[in-house]
Amino acid sequence: MISLGIIGTNWITEQFIKATDITKTFALTHVYSRTEAKAKSFVEDLDKKNINISTDLTAFFKEDFDTVYIASPNGLHFEQAKQAIENNKNVIVEKPSTSTIKEFTILEKLAQEHDVYLFEAARHIHEPIFKKIAEIVAKHRDELSGATFSYMKYSSRYDAYKAGKNPNIFTTRFSGGALYDLGVYTVYDAVVLFGQPEKVDYDAEFLASGVDGSGALTLKYPNFDVNIIIGKTKNSYMSSEIYFGRDTLLLDNGGDISHLDWADDNKNITDVPTPKSENPMDSEAHEFARIMTENDQASYDKLLQYARTVNRILEQARTSAGIVFDADEEK
Ligand SMILES: NC(=O)c1ccc[n+]([C@@H]2O[C@H](COP(=O)([O-])OP(=O)(O)OC[C@H]3O[C@@H](n4cnc5c(N)ncnc54)[C@H](OP(=O)(O)O)[C@@H]3O)[C@@H](O)[C@H]2O)c1
Repeated sequence: MISLGIIGTNWITEQFIKATDITKTFALTHVYSRTEAKAKSFVEDLDKKNINISTDLTAFFKEDFDTVYIASPNGLHFEQAKQAIENNKNVIVEKPSTSTIKEFTILEKLAQEHDVYLFEAARHIHEPIFKKIAEIVAKHRDELSGATFSYMKYSSRYDAYKAGKNPNIFTTRFSGGALYDLGVYTVYDAVVLFGQPEKVDYDAEFLASGVDGSGALTLKYPNFDVNIIIGKTKNSYMSSEIYFGRDTLLLDNGGDISHLDWADDNKNITDVPTPKSENPMDSEAHEFARIMTENDQASYDKLLQYARTVNRILEQARTSAGIVFDADEEK
């Protein structure tokens, strides 16, 4: 198993550790938290023993472990990933890995120089259900005629925002908002399934904090458009769809995909059987570990290319909408 340090002590980190336990890929050895008590309670809840706890990030990166999983607020990813790479750690960083394409380019170059892996944790593209979608798209590629993806979910943190608190995910300081939090999944959908679009346009509904609460994103491809609806301030139950002329593949959601149906021209809708994962992060944990242990350069290059394209589209989209992050000023 690959030794693992983590940054972040939230439910998503817990989910990732559980996925590494199930897949027997990474073994948790080190935890960084700003608070020792929080780190202790985190490892106790997971029933982990002999874990090294650090509240000093520089000291944490000097420790002897192989890979770091970074699940801090988006705006901290770049500096933490950079520091990790400079200390020769492999990096798995939560989506979106960076706030700007410039940051992504720096990390990519640095990872190459230090001969370490840099993975963006876009968990859903590794799940069996996504592989099934990719298979269907490849089979019907000649009829492919566009898509609509929807991922709009009322955030529990929006209540805190409205109450005048300042949750990280609704701040420009931490590169928050609907596009960077949920839109990233749907941009991955488009990039992995259809490739790089020719034109990107985002129309955002702004919150007073400067981030987008919701919005509509259009990705233009040579022969079709992909229309995307995202939001963190309301709930949508619209299904997502991929069009193949007369036939349509229905996805229950654009980011959190758990069910597929196929609809024909006569409105016959049939269930598309798909394998399910026990934990949505199993597949990515398995794939990252596999790439590292088998030194599968071709698969790694493909993931890096997806991440680079997605990060570029995210920046183009928010620039078109006029969303400015604090990270832009540091350019
Ligand atoms: N792949 C998925 O399915 C998925 C799902 C949810 C979230 N995510 C991603 O995971 C990342 C974390 O999201 P989250 O909602 O868990 O974020 P969060 O609650 O704002 O923060 C995550 C962790 O970062 C640390 N942290 C919080 N505020 C900080 C601050 N001001 N300065 C330094 N450290 C701080 C905290 O750890 P300590 O208190 O221990 O220091 C906390 O546990 C994001 O990039 C998000 O996009 C991915």
